[in-house]
Amino acid sequence: MTAVGIDAVEIWTGNLKLDLPGTFAPEKGEDPEKYTKGLGLNASSFPDSYEDIVTMGANAAHRLMERKGLEPDDIGRIDVATESAFDNSKPVSTYVAGCLEQVYDGDFHHANKGERKFACIAGTQSLDDAYNWIRAGRSRGRSALVIATDTALYARGDDGEATQGAGAVAMLISEDPNLVELSAEQGYGSADETDFLKPNQQFPSVDGKRSVQVYLARMREALEDFESVAGEVHEEDFVYAPFHTPFPGMVRKAALLAYRHVIRDTEIEDDLATEIGRQPRPEAFDSDDEYRDALREYMDSLKRTDRYAEWYEATIDPTLTIAREVGNWYTGSVHVARASALKHALESDREMTGKKLLIGSYGSGAQAEIHSETVRDGWEEEITALNIDEQLAERYEMTWDDYEEIHDAHNHEMDVDVEEFTTPSEEFVFDGWGRMGERKYRYVE
Ligand code: CAA
Repeated sequence: MTAVGIDAVEIWTGNLKLDLPGTFAPEKGEDPEKYTKGLGLNASSFPDSYEDIVTMGANAAHRLMERKGLEPDDIGRIDVATESAFDNSKPVSTYVAGCLEQVYDGDFHHANKGERKFACIAGTQSLDDAYNWIRAGRSRGRSALVIATDTALYARGDDGEATQGAGAVAMLISEDPNLVELSAEQGYGSADETDFLKPNQQFPSVDGKRSVQVYLARMREALEDFESVAGEVHEEDFVYAPFHTPFPGMVRKAALLAYRHVIRDTEIEDDLATEIGRQPRPEAFDSDDEYRDALREYMDSLKRTDRYAEWYEATIDPTLTIAREVGNWYTGSVHVARASALKHALESDREMTGKKLLIGSYGSGAQAEIHSETVRDGWEEEITALNIDEQLAERYEMTWDDYEEIHDAHNHEMDVDVEEFTTPSEEFVFDGWGRMGERKYRYVE
């Protein structure tokens, strides 16, 4: 069976930066370490006044098409995943195609376009759609463009405000891909949950503490379901495990649970038993509460072992490097985590061809999905082409007053005109409103 997967990736960050320990924490009267150590975040990316989900998505896609030497005729499908859409009918992918048609001679009239919604997991679901379209033999030799784009803004004063972010990831899905092959096996953990939602409103209603528990519960289900089709997962099977990263502290919790699961009934559990005992089993306890207390104690001890710390440093920590500087990008977040891991491999001269990644996606509401990816021999070329470090360094750093202004500028309920903080160059920008309330865009040379 010919491999199908991600051929190329491009990342586009919002052009503004908010320093969390330096600017946000003092205004909130909080210890800066709550952000750097607790949530694991240094900064978040924000859209300037001329940026939105369309400009960021189109800019990422444009860069990808230019780098790969593609024309519109090479693309048979454009799917945009977002939870920041501003229209209940017209999909963001039509706007993105309209932007790209301004800079290419051809058009996307014969490309199938759509928009995917299931909170942050929609980016991964769009990869599935593209994979299935190619596997079904419907692609006519063309590739699919998948764009995950979000302005992950929370209401001012919401606990989630510290985890905001804005950016887009564009991915080209093809046969015989350069970057990674997607596994046919997938595991799901899905349930009707009320942890985070936007009932026809721009900013989310969030039960923050509950959302953390739901993330962990659905991920565990997805991992078990994945094992039921792909076989047991072991510690040494995967070089990196990129997970959806609303904030790195969330992944720290998920990683510990995943590690406990994968070492159960293995030699590692036996080796660790002399130091911290064996994992508690429910049948050994009279009540659920006693079992849970014992489990908590075991997890606390496991977290402190050298073995776990080494695994975490090697397999999880490298997936969080970019997230620490940009915050939550919702649909793009797990795809940023994959790029972060492969960038780490490149920078540490690690040979990755043929090696595996375990990908954990999550969307509130709620669903988790786990699949594996096999790294392909063009990965170095693809990851070397990323310019995310330069983009991050070039962001304009906002003062607190700037932040308040820009949050208002992106608040759909406010009608404020905010001067741009940066000067756009070689990118699409928002250019005002049309007669039917549509958004207009232009390319700035
Ligand atoms: N030094 C070190 N650590 C500190 C600290 C300090 N001075 N002060 C606090 N901390 C730690 C806390 O102990 C806590 O860590 P643990 O959870 O490991 O105990 C961490 O910093 C955060 O502190 P709080 O729990 O007090 O923070 P909070 O209540 O203000 O907000 C949150 C946390 C509820 C997650 C909030 O950020 C939120 O609502 N976020 C949005 C929802 C979200 O991202 N949920 C994640 C799962 S849902 C999902 O993944 C979908 C999605 O993308 C939204």
